Amino acid sequence: MTDKTGNNIKLRELQKEDAQMIFEWRNSDFISKVGSLQKKVSWKEHQNWILSAIKDTKKVIYIIQNHGTDVGQIRFEKDNDDSTQASISIYVIEPYLKKGIGLESLNIACKMIFQYWNDLQQIDALVREENLKSQSFFTKAGFLYSNNQHIKQHKIYHFYKSDFLK
Ligand SMILES: CC(C)(COP(=O)(O)OP(=O)(O)OC[C@H]1O[C@@H](n2cnc3c(N)ncnc32)[C@H](O)[C@@H]1OP(=O)(O)O)[C@@H](O)C(=O)NCCC(=O)NCCS
Repeated sequence: MTDKTGNNIKLRELQKEDAQMIFEWRNSDFISKVGSLQKKVSWKEHQNWILSAIKDTKKVIYIIQNHGTDVGQIRFEKDNDDSTQASISIYVIEPYLKKGIGLESLNIACKMIFQYWNDLQQIDALVREENLKSQSFFTKAGFLYSNNQHIKQHKIYHFYKSDFLK
């Protein structure tokens, strides 16, 4: 359904047929500079990554679609299958930024992942210190900044299932 922002967001799971598209997104200047590795990847590295990611029970990767067009990606990842905590990373490709797509799809994705991983209690977003836009993005989405936890050059934001269900 199209909402008041004019968006019509759906999330679908990543498939191996998405490899080429994700490769181009991943290596674009916009995405590679905010990524945790901060570098471009080779096609071979990417293919290996995508094939193992699809099979990996500790990862869930959604493609964001707006009006049926693929416009971004959201990835959840746990350290081990029994973990009650997962990290999230999200991007929207450049032509579709600042239209509310990120916020709306983040909301849908959190709802989906809490259902999919029923034991999950907490989602953590690691944002690079200089990435102020994403810090206000996660704050606006209801994530809480944790000032007592630090990972090199990143700020950590948490989102709890208990808050989500209120
Ligand atoms: C973070 C990101 C997903 C936001 O996507 P988006 O669709 O542009 O975000 P939205 O349009 O839903 O914006 C929601 C809120 O985010 C913040 N925000 C988004 N873009 C912003 C910008 N350019 N400057 C300042 N704040 C911004 C604002 O609080 C905004 O609310 P507002 O529109 O009421 O001001 C997108 O900027 C992106 O892909 N960035 C690169 C990847 C990244 O840094 N990911 C986060 C780390 S995992």
